[in-house]
Amino acid sequence: MSESRPAAVIVLAAGEGKRMKSRTPKVLHELCGRTMLGHTLAAARELDPGKLVLVVGHGRDQVGQAPEAREAHVVVQEPQHGTGHAVRMVTEALGAIEGTVVVTYGDMPLLRAETLARLVQAHRDSKHAVSVLTARGDAKGYGRIVRDGTGAFTKIVEEKDATDDEKRIDEYNSGCYAFDGLLLADAIKRVTTANAQQEEYLTDVIQILRGDGHPVGTVEAQDSMEVLGINDRVQLAGARKVLNSRILEQHMRDGVTVVDPASTWIDVTVTIGQDAEIQPGTRLEGRTTIEPNATVGPACDLRDTIVGDGAEVSHTVARNATIGPNATVGPYAYLRPGTRIGQSAHIGCHVELKNSSVGTGAKVPHLTYVGDATIGERANIGAGTIFANYDGARKHPTTIGDDAFVGSNTVLIAPVTVEDGAYTAAGSAIDADVPSGAIGVARGRQHNSAGWVERKRPESRAAKTAARVRSAKNKGELYQVSGMTAPSQKKMMLFGGRAYPELAAEVADCMGIETAPARLYDFANGEIMVRFLESVRGCDAFVLQSHTAPINQWIMEQLIMVDALRRASAKRITVVMPFFGYARQDKKSRGREPISARLVADLFATAGADRLMAVDLHTAQIQGFFDGPVDHLFALPILAGYLETKLNVTNVTVVAPDAGRVRVCERWTDRLGTPLAIIHKRRDPDVANQVKVFEVVGQVKGRTCILVDDMIDTGGTIAKAADALFEQGAKRVIVAATHGVLSGQAVDTLKNSRISEVVITNTLPVEEEKRFDKLTVLSIAPLLARAINEVFNDGSVTSLFDGQS
Ligand code: UD1
Ligand code: CA
Repeated sequence: MSESRPAAVIVLAAGEGKRMKSRTPKVLHELCGRTMLGHTLAAARELDPGKLVLVVGHGRDQVGQAPEAREAHVVVQEPQHGTGHAVRMVTEALGAIEGTVVVTYGDMPLLRAETLARLVQAHRDSKHAVSVLTARGDAKGYGRIVRDGTGAFTKIVEEKDATDDEKRIDEYNSGCYAFDGLLLADAIKRVTTANAQQEEYLTDVIQILRGDGHPVGTVEAQDSMEVLGINDRVQLAGARKVLNSRILEQHMRDGVTVVDPASTWIDVTVTIGQDAEIQPGTRLEGRTTIEPNATVGPACDLRDTIVGDGAEVSHTVARNATIGPNATVGPYAYLRPGTRIGQSAHIGCHVELKNSSVGTGAKVPHLTYVGDATIGERANIGAGTIFANYDGARKHPTTIGDDAFVGSNTVLIAPVTVEDGAYTAAGSAIDADVPSGAIGVARGRQHNSAGWVERKRPESRAAKTAARVRSAKNKGELYQVSGMTAPSQKKMMLFGGRAYPELAAEVADCMGIETAPARLYDFANGEIMVRFLESVRGCDAFVLQSHTAPINQWIMEQLIMVDALRRASAKRITVVMPFFGYARQDKKSRGREPISARLVADLFATAGADRLMAVDLHTAQIQGFFDGPVDHLFALPILAGYLETKLNVTNVTVVAPDAGRVRVCERWTDRLGTPLAIIHKRRDPDVANQVKVFEVVGQVKGRTCILVDDMIDTGGTIAKAADALFEQGAKRVIVAATHGVLSGQAVDTLKNSRISEVVITNTLPVEEEKRFDKLTVLSIAPLLARAINEVFNDGSVTSLFDGQS
């Protein structure tokens, strides 16, 4: 092309373009990723002209300062007196230009650089003073090419100045010319306005040069589409379609599969690698790059986005994003600016990302917003996770580590970090960092209100079903018995009594074991009948019963279950009583009293129990009542673990409500690293459950006190202990007790006390009417499940409790 390198290309773009009906200057309307002006100037630049001149008038600031006009020499034509006038302005501003001067228009976006080059080459070869690029076809509106009898080109007649004969000519002026620059500069001065439009016609230069005896000629464009001047938006749309087909055709010839060219739109600025596949309904814009072997679409709209080798992207909108090799995105993903998807990562359905990076192999599969985040390699973001990056005023970052697992429906409240290999529990609102290897749990505990459906929705279908299930249960038909077989072929079975079947179910659930049926029911006179519905021969039996009211009935039922198991040849029978009934009566305080705790242990031994398991015995000596292994579990990790997450332990004092609790409380202070206080109290021996509080030994002033006890019965003792602490200046009192007996006035007493929270476990059922705002019930089931598993697998639970069992 350098041989035919012109001295200048002048692009005319001063006209108004009224028919666009737009505030945007005509030449700044866009097609296929560039303005008309951009396309024209790009073609002009390919000729590598000595000078690139742009004539502006209407909207001259916008047009002259458009980014695509950079490097062009801008000449202002004001007012606009025609195409000849426009060129005169250029020669007046720049002087006569020696060599070939090409004149073309800013509104001919389909004109190819090759065609311009051919015009320049033909012009040089012919040594004409001017060569006019012409086209044939529907000439309406254009200046006609007039030839003499010999067919020699003589002049151009504008349609408004044409005779009827001339109007029938089908060869027309494209508006694009190659001039001899010096001759043009001279002739342009002699153009008049003696025509229908009273304008200076550039076309008049031809007759002037011919009059001076210079040869003039034409070059015919092979494709008349190329010289289509765009005047309105209908023509713009037509041109866009033509240009798009050209772009698609080029990509297909270069080895790209375009499944449906009719519904695919690709900007001139897009690059696509070999064997990439573009599916229907896809639009690729701006500086988008599709690497080889990638599949994009159906229905993608990508702008300034890089899609890596082998990646698959469907139904996705992306702006300024990078998708790594072999990553999969969509359907229905929205990648906003600054999104960087790592290699082989997966972004799924209804996921929006902004200014975030997703590590290699990480997954964000469903219904998630990710903003201002860094997600580590192989991390998994659960369904419905929201990265809450905006506090209403500012944006904050979130970091998710490598191999981290974010549970479904987590809200990550930035700034926050979930470290490498950390988890978050489903449904958590995480606003504090989760250390490596930890699980962040931040959600309300579920509470099932038993019988609610039948009470509150008595007419509903659900109520009828619930009633049916309840009556079946009462007949003992649906009692769950659970079994598990260890690798050694030992068979474990979990049996639940009727006192608190929910707990047995929860324990079974924690262990992931199956249920097997049993029948437990009462005869009319209150006698209890038990029958297991599958073989228990040789099994390792765990019989779970909660010693709740009516306690005698439930202890008796558990005894009968043990007896039934023994007679059916169970290999070992472990009695699981989360709360050991009668444990308070573990010694004779005075004459003529029983030691009922001992009797209970004896009864189970007699029935056939081989082992006992209980949580937080009233006193450790009870273990000695049973002539076999006793697993004494502590709820401390559950209670203290819960309080640790809620309290600032630097201001906490653990308080023993009496001297008997000191040993247990020391375990609390060891764990929390807090000081200990003791309440010295005296009982009135004639009144059951009545206590006189005397003094507090230890520092409680201004502190948060955790009163630790094994059980809360009527609540009277503990409320008075709390009063004593407040008298000594305690700031706040929290009660942590393992067993919520909650009898008599307990609920009212605690509700009306100044205690701010009562934390218990569900070793005993806590019925709906016993629940109150300040009461927190933690589940003991995970602890029981672990202990049962340990006993079943190694016959020992010591590993669970740092040797303190
Ligand atoms: C012009 C030609 C006509 C040709 C047609 C092709 C003349 C007298 N006629 O007609 O033979 O067939 O183009 O499209 O040249 N412009 C300026 N300043 C002006 C007037 C126009 O810069 O004062 C620019 C416009 O912005 C446009 C181009 O020149 O880019 C053509 O102007 P337009 O008014 O469309 O010319 P036509 O009358 O269509
Ligand atoms: Ca025109």
